[in-house]
Amino acid sequence: MTKSNVTPKRSIQASPSALPNDATVLCGRDKSLTHRAVMFAALARGETIIREPLLGADCLSTMSCFRALGIQIEALDARSIRVRSEGFSAFKTPAVDLDCGNSGTTARLISGILAAQPGLKVRLTGDASLSSRPMRRVVDPLRRMGARIEGPEQGNFLPLTIQGQTLQPLAHEVDKASAQVKSALLLAGLFCEGETSVRLPAGSRDHTERMLQRMGANLVSEIHDGMEQVRVRGPFAPPPGRYMIPVDPSSAAFFCVLGLLRKGGTVRLPEVLDNPTRTGFLRVLQRMSSALVLTPDPDQRFVEPVMQITLEGGAALRPTDIEAAEVPTLVDEIPVLAVAAAFAEGPSTFHGLEELRVKESDRLSKTAELLRLAGAEVSVQGDSLRIAGRLKEVQAFTYDAVGDHRLAMAAAIMARRSKKPCCILDSECVGVSFPDFYEMLDSIV
Ligand code: S3P
Repeated sequence: MTKSNVTPKRSIQASPSALPNDATVLCGRDKSLTHRAVMFAALARGETIIREPLLGADCLSTMSCFRALGIQIEALDARSIRVRSEGFSAFKTPAVDLDCGNSGTTARLISGILAAQPGLKVRLTGDASLSSRPMRRVVDPLRRMGARIEGPEQGNFLPLTIQGQTLQPLAHEVDKASAQVKSALLLAGLFCEGETSVRLPAGSRDHTERMLQRMGANLVSEIHDGMEQVRVRGPFAPPPGRYMIPVDPSSAAFFCVLGLLRKGGTVRLPEVLDNPTRTGFLRVLQRMSSALVLTPDPDQRFVEPVMQITLEGGAALRPTDIEAAEVPTLVDEIPVLAVAAAFAEGPSTFHGLEELRVKESDRLSKTAELLRLAGAEVSVQGDSLRIAGRLKEVQAFTYDAVGDHRLAMAAAIMARRSKKPCCILDSECVGVSFPDFYEMLDSIV
């Protein structure tokens, strides 16, 4: 698709105020948890209430897929939704394609669920970005359980046609630390008689496991020598429930980096999900700075623990390396961590970034492009990103976010360090995960 001058764009630069303000920012709610809460609610027979769901485009894609399968999802009030379902056995073959939009989590997790519904037939579609992302990582192991899934290039790409079957439990070996793959297989395993297990490199987010354990599923997870094994015993029918969704650490990460890069002032980020499989970026930022305080929040109402993050601007940042083993815990935060590393007092290298090439865009080369446009010295060596650091003056830049929400937000944080206006093309794609991002950015001067 060619970009025209109607592509939404934004101009951002350093705040004109010499004095950074103190700000409390309630960032967007967690995308991964909202997807899963909607999915489990749709599988359960009865009524589930989800408080503070993220209503970003990705989660709306999950909701519209389940609506097409016959599930009622409606606003209960401004900050809650109600999901009513007759249970998975009442899913109806939809009259329309299930459009997963830009959302890999929707496409991959829903494949695991729907492949295991005998008699159901669906076709999954997505936007141009999602249609170019690899699906065989879930399709192949699901086929080994007996799934019937067809699609271009042996089922590697959307549109996928799924003909639901009775699946057989299986012990899976997966070579990537991917929560989407792990979750798709565990979800399929819920509908099998017996034990389904997934063995994979450790570190990927564990929300599916935590939610299933909380619901009473027979699920065990163990980590040995850098490998994780999760076993679930089916059949298990999720019960309806109540979920309250914390703030998304992946959204808070942009304001963490902004808070550290400002000349002063305090930024407070409350109600942030506190789960070590999601907060690797905080461990990296703690290596780079001491101006970061994490305070556990005893509030028990959320589906997982929460904390407050407090940051002070003005301190120098130390360079740091990111090892391949920690990447699964910060996989979505690499672009904004790279922005932070550009200002560090020396070189940083981020290793093990191959998965970034198959995200919503080729995030590895697009992150390097952003840094280069801003005037930073950066190189991509295989799957590593080497960032020289010591960036003083951010050059005015025009950056095309190519529809990738996390790139647009990383570019906005970089632009806030430039004395001249910087232009972000395709800026509104932030709505995929953080619809209020620019409004919140404007609240911090
Ligand atoms: C997600 C898992 C991650 C992450 C994505 C959300 C999830 O993808 O990048 O934004 O909710 O399970 P992978 O499992 O492909 O690493």
